Amino acid sequence: MSINDFDLANRNFVVNPYPVMSKLREIGEPVWHESMKMWLAPGHADASAVLRSKTLGRIYTEKQPNQLWETFNWLHADSILDSEPPKHTRLRSLVAKAFNRGQIDRLAPRIDLLIDDLLANCAKKLRDQGTFDVIADYAEPLPVLVIAELLGVDKENSHFLRPWSQAIVKMYEYNPTEQQKTEARQASDNFAQLVTQMVTQRKQNPTPDLVTELVQVEESGEKLTLHELIATCVLLLNAGHEASVNGFGNGFVAAMNTPSEKAKLITKPREIANSTVEEFLRFDAPLQLFERTATATTKIGEIVVEEGQKIAALLGSANRDESVFSNAAQMDLTRDPNPHIGFGGGIHFCLGAPLARLEMVKSIPALFERFPGIELADTPRMRSTFVLRGYEEISVSA
Ligand code: HEM
Repeated sequence: MSINDFDLANRNFVVNPYPVMSKLREIGEPVWHESMKMWLAPGHADASAVLRSKTLGRIYTEKQPNQLWETFNWLHADSILDSEPPKHTRLRSLVAKAFNRGQIDRLAPRIDLLIDDLLANCAKKLRDQGTFDVIADYAEPLPVLVIAELLGVDKENSHFLRPWSQAIVKMYEYNPTEQQKTEARQASDNFAQLVTQMVTQRKQNPTPDLVTELVQVEESGEKLTLHELIATCVLLLNAGHEASVNGFGNGFVAAMNTPSEKAKLITKPREIANSTVEEFLRFDAPLQLFERTATATTKIGEIVVEEGQKIAALLGSANRDESVFSNAAQMDLTRDPNPHIGFGGGIHFCLGAPLARLEMVKSIPALFERFPGIELADTPRMRSTFVLRGYEEISVSA
C-alpha cells in the first residue's frame, strides 16, 4: 500500500475507501500526502486531536478571481463553519439556542407527520410501480422539509434547496470540473438572492421562524452583519440536510447487506433506534474528511504540522479504528459505547446534531415498521464524491 492509493479520483477507492484507510491507520500516525499537499490523520485519537486543536483552524481561502466568486466567497467567509474565534463564537452563540435539545424536541410532532406523509407516498409508489427510492422518496425530503420549515422557506422554494446545496458542496471535493464551478457560483447567487428576499420580507412582516429571529438580531445593530445573517441561513439550509440524507442512506444500505442487523431492524427497530443512529453514522460516515490549517506549529501525535500547512481529520477512518471500536469493520446496531466522531469535535462540533439525531431516531424505525418486507430491488448507486459520501439512488421493494 502506498499513500497514493488514497486517491479521490479513483472510483474503486471512493466506492470502498475502508481497506486503504485501514492500511493508513497501521502506520500509527498522520501521513503526508504529497499530491494533496496535506497531512492525513486516519486514527481516532489523531483525528480528534486535529478537530480539537486551538492552533488548527478552519481558514477559508477565497476563490479567485473574486469578481466571479464574490457571492460564493462571502457565503463561506461569513458563515459559522468557516470562521474561527472570536467571530465563530459570536455567530455560533446567535443560533445555538434555536438548536438546543429542548427546542428541537418541540419539532417532534411535526417530524412524525412529515414521516407519515412520506411513507404514504412510498406505499403508493410500491403499489403503482413495485419499487420506491429510499433516497429521493424518504431520506432526502424529510430533512429538507424540516430545515426549510424551521427557517421559514415557503413551499414553492423548498425544492430548490437540495439542488443548490448539491451544486455548492461539489466545491468541497478535490478537482471540480469547470461546469461544476459554474453551477456552484450560480447556486450561490440563487441561494443568496432567495435568503435576501426572505430577509426583506421579514423586516416588513415578521413571521415565527429562525430567519425572523436572526433579522431582529441584525436590526439591533451590533452582533450580526447582513452578509453574516445570509451566510448563516444558507449554511443552515445546506448543512441541515446534506449529511442527514447520506447518513441515512449509507447506514441503510450497510444494514440491508448485513443479515443479522437487518433482522434486528425488522424485529425491534424502535427499541434499538438510538444506538442504530449512532452506528449508521459510525459505520459509513456521510462526511469523511475535514481540513484544518495550522496557525502555529502544532504537534499531532509524533508529527509536526508547520504553520500554514494543512491537515485533514479522516472521520470515516477514525470511526473504524480497531483500538477504539471492537470488530470495527462489523456493523453492530446495538454497539455501546459508540464514541464515533461523525459529528466532528471541538468548537465546530455539529450544531445540528440533536436535530439530525431526532430525525433519524424517528425515520429509521418508521420505515422498517411500515415495510417489514423491505429488500434492495437493485444495486444501490453510489455518488462519485468522497468528502460527502453517499448514495444517489437506493431502489427497494417490499
Ligand atoms: C447526520 C447528519 C449530520 C452529520 C453527520 C453532521 C456532521 C457535521 C460535522 C462533522 C461538522 C463539523 C465540521 C468540521 O469540524 O469542520 C458539522 C458542523 C455543522 N453542522 Fe452538521 N451534521 C449533520 C446534520 C446537521 C444538521 C441537521 C444541521 C442543522 C442545522 C447541521 C448544522 C451544522 C452546522 C451549522 C455546523 C457548523 C458548526 C460550527 O462551525 O460551529 N448539521 N456537522
